[in-house]
Amino acid sequence: MRTQKYWIILALSLLIVTPDKTSGENILFFFGISTYSHRIPVWPLVEKLVEKGHNVTFVSPFSPKVPNPKVHEFTPKEITLSMEKNTEGPVALHLRSTVKDQSIKSWFGLPNWGLGLCELFLKSPDVRHWISSSKFDLVVIDGLFNDCGLGLAYKFNAPHLIYDTTSIFMWQLEAFGIPNENSWIPDMQYFFPQKMSFLQRLWTTGNSLRCEEFPRSLPPYVIPVGGMHIKENVDPLPKTLENFINGSEKGFVYISFGSSVQISKAPPEIYGAFIEAIKRIKVNFIWKWEGDNLPSNLPSNVFMQKWMPQQALLAHPKIKAFVTHSGLMSIQEAIFNGVPLVSLPVFSEQDYNAERVHTGGYGIRLEITTLTADQLVEALSKILYTPSYKDEMLKKSKAFRDRPMSPADTALWWTEFVLRQGDTSFLKPMSIYQKLLTIQGMG
Ligand SMILES: *[C@@H]1O[C@H](CO)[C@@H](O)[C@H](O)[C@H]1NC(C)=O
Ligand SMILES: *[C@@H]1O[C@H](CO)[C@@H](O)[C@H](O)[C@H]1NC(C)=O
Repeated sequence: MRTQKYWIILALSLLIVTPDKTSGENILFFFGISTYSHRIPVWPLVEKLVEKGHNVTFVSPFSPKVPNPKVHEFTPKEITLSMEKNTEGPVALHLRSTVKDQSIKSWFGLPNWGLGLCELFLKSPDVRHWISSSKFDLVVIDGLFNDCGLGLAYKFNAPHLIYDTTSIFMWQLEAFGIPNENSWIPDMQYFFPQKMSFLQRLWTTGNSLRCEEFPRSLPPYVIPVGGMHIKENVDPLPKTLENFINGSEKGFVYISFGSSVQISKAPPEIYGAFIEAIKRIKVNFIWKWEGDNLPSNLPSNVFMQKWMPQQALLAHPKIKAFVTHSGLMSIQEAIFNGVPLVSLPVFSEQDYNAERVHTGGYGIRLEITTLTADQLVEALSKILYTPSYKDEMLKKSKAFRDRPMSPADTALWWTEFVLRQGDTSFLKPMSIYQKLLTIQGMG
């Protein structure tokens, strides 16, 4: 299903036979080279595992905002310092404004960046001590940057799972024997419109590794578990928000650029376009604004604050649209709640997400670096007054919710499956042994 975006890959190279182990296992989550945002989608699996009596250790450069006392946290400080230095400030929007093909450049830069951090991690005396004094029965590895997790799994003589926070990365296709269907499926790392022209097709096919989550063939050990972080039941809204929403007969639009993009640090003409559009559209707006100061001349139909209970807002019956940076978790929450989108991608796989939203007809994609108030008014008017966007989103929502088990229960079941089975090599697709060209969709 195309909306399911997180995958568990049960990787099979290092296996020990340990039958009937389903509780009290020592499980390592290696998210050592990750941003804070990678914690969020996998956390429900961690909580389910500790509820079942497993002993979970979570390695990450960032401590959790709400720690679970049953989870052991290990925070390698060298990595924390390096990550903070590289991700601070309004980097994302600035990159998009100044480097037009930044999505391609940054994707290619990622593996090297990850490699450097892995080296830093493995050289740390604290880490070496931790490795020599630890034992694990299973290692769950964040799929981006964290290749040194494979070395840890080898060292601990434990089977491992790979958890990808997006769809499969291009460098994983060949490694995991996943059919490369890039003649008809666009790629996550590069942005191309969904209907590819002949030249683009040639180019993507020639570039041998690509991936994403349009309907595609997956080997038996790749399990979609998208949407684990989504709450079935949300907390009630704070009074200030509830009052503001109640004051609007025509409903409200929610604007948020997530946790990494600081819209308050964008050039004033960009957020000025939003303010101008808000003045011209007769609905209420709720805007997650992370700056310390509010912009001047705000119209009365907008409410801004630093933090928003996003899932509760998206679940509110009066919401009409969500203006988003197209982060994967935001899009999944919108799909779950059936809220049509205006997508303004900034970095990472957000272009790819926004493109899917646009061609799927459940939202409209705009370009943030050249945004005008007119464009925003036109897009929002379409979303508010043309029923097809909402209708398409409701169809998506219905399909997204229709699963035999919740995504977190699915992930739990497959994690324990690996613990129970030990040897899962029977799930390995034969294509893993094929040469590159024979598994590409070149026909
Ligand atoms: C649980 O994990 C922690 C941290 O890795 C370790 O110190 C502890 O000994 C483990 N407990 C058991 C019962 O194995
Ligand atoms: C908002 O309206 C709803 C439905 O009319 C009502 O139940 C709720 O109490 C109102 N909330 C506030 C804060 O006025």
